[in-house]
Amino acid sequence: MNTAAALSQPIPLPRLPFDLGALAPVISANTLNFHYGKHHKTYVDTLNNLIVGTEFADMPLESIVKATARQSDHTAIFNNAAQAWNHAFYWKSLKPKGGGEPPAELKRLMETSFGGVDQCKKELSNAAVAQFGSGWAWLVQEGEKLKIVKTPDAITPLTDAARPLLTIDIWEHAYYLDYQNRRVDYVNALIENLANWEFAAENLGKK
Ligand code: FE2
Repeated sequence: MNTAAALSQPIPLPRLPFDLGALAPVISANTLNFHYGKHHKTYVDTLNNLIVGTEFADMPLESIVKATARQSDHTAIFNNAAQAWNHAFYWKSLKPKGGGEPPAELKRLMETSFGGVDQCKKELSNAAVAQFGSGWAWLVQEGEKLKIVKTPDAITPLTDAARPLLTIDIWEHAYYLDYQNRRVDYVNALIENLANWEFAAENLGKK
């Protein structure tokens, strides 16, 4: 792998699937401007710098995340690759005028796994609030079961047996400008107003 080829195929910063102001007032344009334009972009830029001339230079993002997970000699590449992947997944997990009734198959699995849609949302909220420090809360699928998991820092269920369906970023940069220390208010407003259950349903059965 040579440097010129690596530079010709960098990991791209994906376009936001909505306008910067489209999630307000739950998530402000100001927050999205920093979160997407600074934080997410920096993970992607740093990753592209780190993989130049390495065995990872030609790999798609998802493969880099899986190849470097739990490899102590590739911690920096993993952290930036996983954060790049997690953020792209987070943007897809949100949509303007989201929330509401999940698609039928997802709703059925929420009922069999948690006892209902409201119980699923409550478990997701509780996990997001309970995560100590920075990290992510996830709705995942394991076989016919849905589960809620929380992960610290850049850790992602993408590298485990569970299939990610939807995520909530609970790093302070995701909510501090809008909610300061009130993470619970950010999480609950997101679940009720922005959760893209259609995206979650599209992820069922894939990986
Ligand atoms: Fe973030």
